Amino acid sequence: MAESMKGLHRSHRCTEVSNKNIGEIVTVMGWVQKSRNKGGIIFVDLRDRSGLLQIIFEEGDVGSEGFAKAERLRSEFVIAVVGRVEARSGAVNENLKTGDIEIRATDIRILSEADTPPFPIEEDSKTKEELRLKYRYLDLRRPDLQKNIILRSKVANLTRQFLTEEGFLEIETPMLTKSTPEGARDYLVPSRVHPGNFYALPQSPQLFKQLLMCSGYDRYFQIAKCFRDEDLRADRQPEFTQIDMELSFVDVDDVLDVNERLLQKMFKESIGVDIPLPIQRMSWAEAMERFGSDKPDLRFGMELKNVSEIVKNCGFGVFTTALENGGSVRGINAEGQAGMPRKKIDAFVDFAKDFGAKGLAYLAINEDGSYKSSFAKFMTEEELDALVKALDGKPGDLLFFAADEDEVVFAVLGNLRLEIAKNLGLLNKNEYKFLWVTEFPLLEYSKEDGRYKAVHHPFTMPMEEDLELLDTQPGKVRAKAYDIVLNGTEIGGGSVRIHQSSIQEKMFEVLGFTKEDAHERFGFLLDAFKYGVPPHAGLAYGLDRLIMLMAQEDSIRDVIAFPKVKDASCLMTEAPNIVDAIQLEELKIAIVEDEEK
Ligand code: AMO
Ligand code: AMP
Repeated sequence: MAESMKGLHRSHRCTEVSNKNIGEIVTVMGWVQKSRNKGGIIFVDLRDRSGLLQIIFEEGDVGSEGFAKAERLRSEFVIAVVGRVEARSGAVNENLKTGDIEIRATDIRILSEADTPPFPIEEDSKTKEELRLKYRYLDLRRPDLQKNIILRSKVANLTRQFLTEEGFLEIETPMLTKSTPEGARDYLVPSRVHPGNFYALPQSPQLFKQLLMCSGYDRYFQIAKCFRDEDLRADRQPEFTQIDMELSFVDVDDVLDVNERLLQKMFKESIGVDIPLPIQRMSWAEAMERFGSDKPDLRFGMELKNVSEIVKNCGFGVFTTALENGGSVRGINAEGQAGMPRKKIDAFVDFAKDFGAKGLAYLAINEDGSYKSSFAKFMTEEELDALVKALDGKPGDLLFFAADEDEVVFAVLGNLRLEIAKNLGLLNKNEYKFLWVTEFPLLEYSKEDGRYKAVHHPFTMPMEEDLELLDTQPGKVRAKAYDIVLNGTEIGGGSVRIHQSSIQEKMFEVLGFTKEDAHERFGFLLDAFKYGVPPHAGLAYGLDRLIMLMAQEDSIRDVIAFPKVKDASCLMTEAPNIVDAIQLEELKIAIVEDEEK
């Protein structure tokens, strides 16, 4: 039978005991990692969230009843042990924090017995993720996940500490609210009191934090749950966490400055990484031109080069047609890869096609300086030489070229650049390269909807120098928006907000909102702005993504205690699920059966 805690107090976590405690009596509690019975002596590895500690049971110390209990121990039993700290009798285990000591038990209680778990509780688990997620509470016992969850708590703490010292107030905003403007699909919650009406779960606290600025709270932050019904990927979850902030009486530089110092403290004090300040800044246009991406990974080079001028009169129709259609021809240099087997090149060509490429032209520079190329026969020797020069090609290099409209060329080469780097092992997880990407376009044209849409959201301020273009060339207007990028991942983004109603009205007009539409959706914000609104700006980090990179994991699922899988379900609770007919009745909701089913 499981015993109680009566009269017992834990004195140390497992790895809080050290050789400084030798000779002391301690009380430790945790899970049995492993138990080895060597006849008259039983060795138990005791585990808690801090790590492992070796316990030794001998009848002469724990008595016959105690020894009988020790004989019953199996993996994952929960026990309490009172004992004396001693120097390790056997060989010191260098891999363990407590490898030079052990506890000689004088008393033991079995607090809970345990069935055999469906998979071993161990680091670097080989168990399939589906099974681990079904038993997430067991998965969370594993040291690698515990390390991530502890890191997450630490970073949240450092954030609170830093922002509080900087004069930010932590303020909560509602979860049951109205649709927010981040542009993903909403999760809806039906109202019982107002049948047929729905709350939306917030995609971010955007509108509320702007209202808080109107209310004079001047520096706000929140570690906020956000909900977006999007297609999931390794770095996306339907519910995720933002470190969200907003500041009054500031412009772009003020926001970037306080955030650089926040990042510096976070990285230094949680994982010991120094971030030199200031963090590099690059305009969106430059990022696209040089890296084909608005979130470039700066851990390696392989920059894009525009070779349109060189090939504009060449005999290769693929290139000239793209240029005639207003596109461009650009290339990258995979240094030292001239010997890449044809099969591998073809795989990269297929990869490029996934990003819309119609093809991918290549040119290998042999060691003797001659070329091997998929398009050499259409080009003069001079043109080929000029291409090689433009890409700094040396003997042994392999050049790839894409020709198409700019958008496609950037997507193709930007992603190819990353894929090649991944293949060549150029991505070092111990290196942290930060970048601010600034001056994003304010609007992008949606062919689907036949109108302009806000790239960030409709409250983002255009750059003052581009205001005049709003009427004539909206697609050319740059925004006072910025993203913080780490190793090719967007870990956060924000903007200066519009606080002048004339500009906001113009913005809604360009976005194709009627006055009524705008009022229907955001009326309370527009009204609030009539009563005195300070200039304000803000930013939000994806906390999950940030921790994923700090913990050097490949998926945000590994840094979220209870994540969801690709189809947005939880394998442990089996949410989402059907509900009682009575609940639906109360909500006046009827389920329409899918006809196909
Ligand atoms: P944005 O939409 O860029 O901006 O979101 C901010 C950051 O949140 C993270 N993120 C996600 N993380 C995990 N799963 C998701 N589905 C997901 N979606 C976004 C990203 C992103 O950079 N209100 C604005 C911020 C502002 O303007 O102040 C906003 O939400 O890391
Ligand atoms: P083709 O004449 O279509 O056989 O193409 C000759 C070479 O050009 C092949 O290596 C194709 O993969 C490549 N190619 C085709 N379309 C493009 C494009 N849009 N951009 C770059 N290379 C291309």
